[in-house]
Amino acid sequence: MTGYKGPERVLSGIQPSGGMHLGNYLGAIRKFVDLQTEMDCFYCVVDMHAITVWQDPAKLRAQTFHIAAAYLAAGIDPKVATIFHQSAVAAHAELAWIFNCVARLGWLDRMTQFKDKAGKDKERASVGLYTYPTLMASDILVYKATHVPVGDDQKQHLELARDVAGKFNRDFSAPDFFPLPEPLIKGPGARIMSLRDGTAKMSKSDPSDQATIYLTDDADAILKKIKKAKTDPEPLPSEIAGLSGRPEAANLVGIYAALSGKSDEDVLREFGGSGFGRFKPALADIVVEKIAPIGDRMRRLEEDPSYLRDVLISGAQKAGATAEATVRDVKEIVGFVV
Ligand code: AMP
Ligand code: TRP
Repeated sequence: MTGYKGPERVLSGIQPSGGMHLGNYLGAIRKFVDLQTEMDCFYCVVDMHAITVWQDPAKLRAQTFHIAAAYLAAGIDPKVATIFHQSAVAAHAELAWIFNCVARLGWLDRMTQFKDKAGKDKERASVGLYTYPTLMASDILVYKATHVPVGDDQKQHLELARDVAGKFNRDFSAPDFFPLPEPLIKGPGARIMSLRDGTAKMSKSDPSDQATIYLTDDADAILKKIKKAKTDPEPLPSEIAGLSGRPEAANLVGIYAALSGKSDEDVLREFGGSGFGRFKPALADIVVEKIAPIGDRMRRLEEDPSYLRDVLISGAQKAGATAEATVRDVKEIVGFVV
């Protein structure tokens, strides 16, 4: 617990490094939509994080618009929440440098995402990939965000952001200058798995196109991917315990539950004893019902990049005012001449 007394605020971000998928929607974007009426919300397209691994410049710009379109199409209202891109608010990079001097090498050494993304040849990974979490801490803390909606895979990065906030406050005898941001992870959809392998996370970098349901997939593509999804020969169990050791079945039940607003138990009460021949079409129906309209809106928005650019730039102006005020105070605290 801290004695932080500032307002409750939300910040989250998504990397423009590939197509938006069902995992991004259920683990993150859907929560963003719900939170916008509860707190002051900042939703960022983290283009500076994306370039920690190589991005083709023309694609990076298009993908930045793609994420902005997903935010809007899912129901984030740019008059209510602030939608912007990270690189347009220089304060993120400024604070990240100071956080590089607060965070310890040992903390970054423990980050599993770096190990996963750098692979065996970590000598060849970018320095940015290694310091990724201090930039993420800066994204959050430059707004003094108190709540961060993310999927389960971001837990460790959030812990590091809390550690950075706590150490900064202690090192500079500025108790409660930064809040210790709370992760908002729980809830159905926090970890959606690949349709081809129930033990691997659904991800935009999956080599198999069949593994991932993209928000821009049309009804036909959704139906085909679900039909082909890996399963096992058993019918669905009637109770949760029966899903253990059946990761693919558990994932499909979880997706149905997350989209229908039911619990896994309710879904199994309805479908227990049925084979996938009955369950998959029902699942495809609900995915099409909930996702296809978002995809349609995204496609229309992406036809108008100048509108998307306006949304991002005016968001960046609003975000910049808050972020710059924090950096000014931080410079004072650290002992820079201001
Ligand atoms: P990324 O696509 O890695 O930039 O992630 C953007 C947001 O989506 C983060 O909050 C992630 O935790 C979330 N996310 C990504 N993949 C999944 C998944 N398979 N299941 C649930 N949430 C996810
Ligand atoms: N690391 C996050 C991801 O890959 C993206 C991200 C960057 C983020 N900055 C953030 C998420 C700040 C939440 C808050 O998913």
